[in-house]
Amino acid sequence: ASAVDAAVAAFREGRPVCVHDFDDREGETDLIYPARAVDADAVARMRNDAGGLICTAFSDAVADAAELPFLADVIDHPAGETEHLAYGDRSSFSLTVNHCDAFTGVTDADRALTITELGAFAERVANGDELDAEDFAGDFRAPGHVHLLRAAEGLLADRRGHTELGLALADAADQPPAVVVCEMLDDDTGDALSTAAAREYAARNNIPFVDGDALVKRLG
Ligand code: 5RP
Ligand code: CA
Ligand code: ZN
Repeated sequence: ASAVDAAVAAFREGRPVCVHDFDDREGETDLIYPARAVDADAVARMRNDAGGLICTAFSDAVADAAELPFLADVIDHPAGETEHLAYGDRSSFSLTVNHCDAFTGVTDADRALTITELGAFAERVANGDELDAEDFAGDFRAPGHVHLLRAAEGLLADRRGHTELGLALADAADQPPAVVVCEMLDDDTGDALSTAAAREYAARNNIPFVDGDALVKRLG
């Protein structure tokens, strides 16, 4: 089977995938899970093995239902006035949140709770429930310890970040439009983990590895 088939099959079963974007973009590999499948062990794996920021990406439709803005559009501070990412894209960051039943919000169990409930919210929207910002606020509080990302409306046609690559994978695997992404960093250097090392990690742990070109070709 192709790398994309293996990635879609893993996602269908709630297993993670390693996704490298593009050498001329971030050039990073993220460990990505369907949000509903994340438990405390998965959060621990993201912290210990990946090491980047743990973020939950929503499709544009789910973010729209919850009325979640792009953070760059609502920061009322000079530091938020001009957005500039070194590799030329715009940021997909939205609010940070915790589930209402979380205690501090940062523990593996608390973040897993927040993330699975974000997955449940996305699933309800995808199933046609008419949820709005008040419904979202009934379950979640901002600020919190899980970064939300908001995907571009046209997904891969509009933007090709890990945000959209992960959601395209969820769509292909019939999973709700909420995925968790975490960048893989190198413990020795602190740099982004090299593609070769990310591939080795994936092979060692039976995790499919797929890159942006293959995903865009098949799902774009
Ligand atoms: C959040 C990020 C990561 O790069 C993440 O992969 C999502 O961003 P993008 O869609 O731009 O790749 O910055 O930690
Ligand atoms: Ca980034
Ligand atoms: Zn990324």
